[in-house]
Amino acid sequence: MKIAIFGTGYVGLVTGTCFADLGNQVTCVDIDAEKIKALRKGKIPFYEPGLKELVLRNSKEKRLVFTTDGKPAIEKSEVIFICVGTPSKASGEANLDYVFAVAKEISKHMNDYKIIVDKSTVPVGTAEKVERIIKINHTQEIPFDVVSNPEFLREGAAVKDFQNPDRVVIGADSERAKLIMSNLYKPVSRVSNPIMITQTKTAELIKYASNAMLATRISFMNELSHLCETTGADIKEVSKGMGLDNRIGSRFLQAGAGYGGSCFPKDVKALAQMLEQHGHQSTIMRAVDYVNERQKKTIVPKLKKFFSSLEGKRIAIWGLSFKPRTSDIREAPSLVIIDQLKNEYAEITAFDPEAMPEVKHMIKGGVKLVSDAYDALKGADALIVVTEWDQFREPDFELMKKLMRKKVLIDCRNIYDPEKVRAYGFEYAGVGR
Ligand SMILES: NC(=O)c1ccc[n+]([C@@H]2O[C@H](COP(=O)([O-])OP(=O)(O)OC[C@H]3O[C@@H](n4cnc5c(N)ncnc54)[C@H](O)[C@@H]3O)[C@@H](O)[C@H]2O)c1
Repeated sequence: MKIAIFGTGYVGLVTGTCFADLGNQVTCVDIDAEKIKALRKGKIPFYEPGLKELVLRNSKEKRLVFTTDGKPAIEKSEVIFICVGTPSKASGEANLDYVFAVAKEISKHMNDYKIIVDKSTVPVGTAEKVERIIKINHTQEIPFDVVSNPEFLREGAAVKDFQNPDRVVIGADSERAKLIMSNLYKPVSRVSNPIMITQTKTAELIKYASNAMLATRISFMNELSHLCETTGADIKEVSKGMGLDNRIGSRFLQAGAGYGGSCFPKDVKALAQMLEQHGHQSTIMRAVDYVNERQKKTIVPKLKKFFSSLEGKRIAIWGLSFKPRTSDIREAPSLVIIDQLKNEYAEITAFDPEAMPEVKHMIKGGVKLVSDAYDALKGADALIVVTEWDQFREPDFELMKKLMRKKVLIDCRNIYDPEKVRAYGFEYAGVGR
C-alpha cells in the first residue's frame, strides 16, 4: 500500500518505518527541514531502540523516503497518517493547529480517494472537524474518509509495540475505510492482539481513557507513598500485595518522582478540559494531575533532610530522561528537581545514557553534564537517581563510596535495597518506604 506520514517525530517515524518494513511504500513528510536532511543521511533525531536499523534498511530498499514536500506524497498515497504534535494550550486543552494545518494541506492536493488517519492524540470530535476542514477547502469533489487510529506505543519499546501491539484501535464510519485499515494492520494483529473497530469518537476517547487510567494508577500510588513514609509501611510491598490481585494487576503501580513525557501530563489535562468543556466537573483527572505535579517537588525536600543547607553542596543526578530507554525529557521530573536544586544554590552534575544532547538544548547552564555515571560522583555530597536506567540498578557501591564526599543516596524509583545500601555506609531515602 502507498502511505504518507505527516509528522516524523516519535510516532510518525516509528509508524512509517514499521509500515515500510511490512512491505508498504512510505513517504514521511515533515516541515522540519533539518530533521528530514538528517533522516535522509540515516541519522535518527532521538534514541529509540531498534529504530535506526529499520530506518537504514527500509531507506536502502527504497520503501521509506523522507521529504518536506507534502504535495507528491498526498497525490501518490491512498492512506495519509497525521502524526503531528498536539501540545497543551495554557488551558490544558489540546492544541490542534498542527493537525488542522495538515488537513488543509491534504485537501489542497487530493486527487483521488484518500483515507486520512488521525494518529495524533486528539479530543473527541476531531475526526469530524478534520472532515469539515477538508470539505471546506478541497478544490474538487473527491471521496475520502477520516479515520481515528490512536497510537499506544511506549517510547523505549516503540518498534516492539508497533510490531506486537496489545490491540489496534480503528475508529471508522465507512465500510471502505474499515476494510483498507484492517488490511493494513493485518500483518501485526493476532488472535490475542486484535484489531478493534469502532466509531471515530469512541476511538478518540479510548486513547485518552487509556493514558489517563495509567496516570491515575501512578498518582494513586504516589499519594499512598506519603502515608507509607509517615507510618512506616513500605509502598513497594503495598504495590506487590495489590498487584497480586488479578482484578488489579501489577503494572503502573510504582510510586516514584511522578510521571512525565509527552503524553500522560498533557493527555490527563486535555481529558479534564474536555470533560469540563462538556459541562462535567473533572474531579479525578484534576486530582491525578495535581498529585503528579506535587510529587515531582517532593524529591528535593527529601534530600534537604540530610543537610542544614544545600548551598554549595555537590549533587549528582543519574538519569534525566522521563523514563529509561528514551532520550525524551519532555515534562521529566529531573527538570523540576534541577530547578529546585538551582534555587537552593546547589552545584549539579548529571549523567544520562541518552538524554544529554536534549538536556543541553533545554537547560540553560547551571548543570555540569558528564559522560560517565561515576564521573558525576567525584566529590559529590549526594546522588539522586531519578530515572531507572538498567545500568544504575547494580552499581559499584564500593567505588561510589570512594568517589563521594558525603554518602547520601536518594532513590526516586526504589530500585535499591535500603538495607544493602545502608550497609555500604550510605544514608538512604526512597519513595514511600
Ligand atoms: N511520543 C509518544 O510516545 C506518543 C505515543 C502515543 C501518541 N502520541 C501522540 O502522537 C502525536 C505526535 O507525538 P510525537 O511525540 O511523535 O510528536 P513529535 O513532537 O515528536 O513530532 C511531531 C512532528 O510533527 C512535525 N510537524 C508539525 N507540523 C507539521 C506539518 N504541518 N507537516 C508535517 N510535519 C509537521 C514536527 O516538525 C515534528 O517533527 C501527539 O498527538 C502525541 O500525543 C505520542
